[in-house]
Amino acid sequence: MKNLMNIKSQKQIADHIYEMVLEGDITSSMKTPGQFVHVRVSDSTEHVLRRPISIADINHEQSQFTIVYRAEGAGTRKMSALRTGDSLDILSPLGNGYPLEKNEHVLIVGGGIGVPPLYELSKQLNRLGVKTTHVLGFNSKKDVFYEEKFRTLGETHVATADGSCGTEGFVTDVIGDLKDDFDLFYACGPKVMLKVLSETMDLDGYISLEERMGCGFGVCYACVCETARGDYIKLCTEGPVFRKGEIVL
Ligand code: FES
Repeated sequence: MKNLMNIKSQKQIADHIYEMVLEGDITSSMKTPGQFVHVRVSDSTEHVLRRPISIADINHEQSQFTIVYRAEGAGTRKMSALRTGDSLDILSPLGNGYPLEKNEHVLIVGGGIGVPPLYELSKQLNRLGVKTTHVLGFNSKKDVFYEEKFRTLGETHVATADGSCGTEGFVTDVIGDLKDDFDLFYACGPKVMLKVLSETMDLDGYISLEERMGCGFGVCYACVCETARGDYIKLCTEGPVFRKGEIVL
């Protein structure tokens, strides 16, 4: 469903990372964590391609939702200049999100711009009574965001590759030291992180491969992936969330 949404607020929360709150009726159709929206940045032909951006937070009471994105190309840089009161053309919600399973204790692992959809996921799991532990990985302190928000939902650890914040190293360095018993893991982040997690975690889990998406709309074929069955699928239309082992990473 295409909609013009009102921008309620926008702020920079880390290096090149922006958080935008949008308001509109379309929020009522957003239910599953891990889904994404399609943003059309401009009416000019210059940035006509839509950008897939994950949904970080849904607030049904106020008909608002939050997206967090990295401003790195011309389109998203233009988007980062939008202000309260401007509007944005959004197609939403798209993709298949994370199944919510009623477990006792789950591990949630995010890397970089893969972190945002896990916040809404953790909120919904906490509402179900599921205990969540979070491990968030970034390159450096300047890239860290949402650490405090995740802390309000459960134990939260941060790893940075250069050691400038939290544990020096990768999310797997933190996970190796955790003593808890987990029933399941949920992850979103770079493909290499998902691959290592899938191969080393002695746990079932769900991974989101949203980083691999281009158009996000089934037309560019940038997201085609091989499945463990040996056929090929488009992540944007059949994912981005899959059960561990379903996709060849
Ligand atoms: Fe373009 Fe899937 S991202 S076809």
